[in-house]
Amino acid sequence: MNGPLFAANLVAVVLALLAAIVSGRVGWRRAHIVIVTLTTVLLAVAVWQAELYGQHLAFEPWRLRLHLVLASATLACLLPVAWTGLAIVRETGRQGTHRWWVVAFMVLAVSAIVSALWMMATALEVAPTDTHPV
Ligand code: HEM
Repeated sequence: MNGPLFAANLVAVVLALLAAIVSGRVGWRRAHIVIVTLTTVLLAVAVWQAELYGQHLAFEPWRLRLHLVLASATLACLLPVAWTGLAIVRETGRQGTHRWWVVAFMVLAVSAIVSALWMMATALEVAPTDTHPV
């Protein structure tokens, strides 16, 4: 796994999230939709990169479990965020409802990031195993 590429993508995710919040707040609707789509793609790439990165590390089981619960809840929260956002576009929903789901999403995302750092703090390097037959 390319460490600098992973770090660069994490920075891109944070910047994209900030851009999503700013474009939503100021009401740049088209830009907001493009930015949140890009953010979702960057997030998916980050999850895949983290999966590759973690293959060579051993984590404390309960720290890993806590992180996986928070990370899954963050991804699941994207559904109501998108649903309530699309409801505003269709004029069937209110901005306030979308805003509360965005707040829940951001709180979960920050918790997932903090739990990941906490998990990494006690991670141990594991030797790669050769699974190929001789
Ligand atoms: C995933 C699909 C999403 C859709 C379809 C969507 C759609 C929208 C729309 C149509 C608005 C109203 C803009 C206007 O006033 O014209 C809005 C507002 C907003 N959105 Fe989204 N959004 C989505 C995801 C997100 C995400 C991921 C975030 C942040 C992480 C976010 C943050 C915000 C914020 C902060 C507002 C302003 C709410 C307010 O001022 O009450 N949105 N969104």
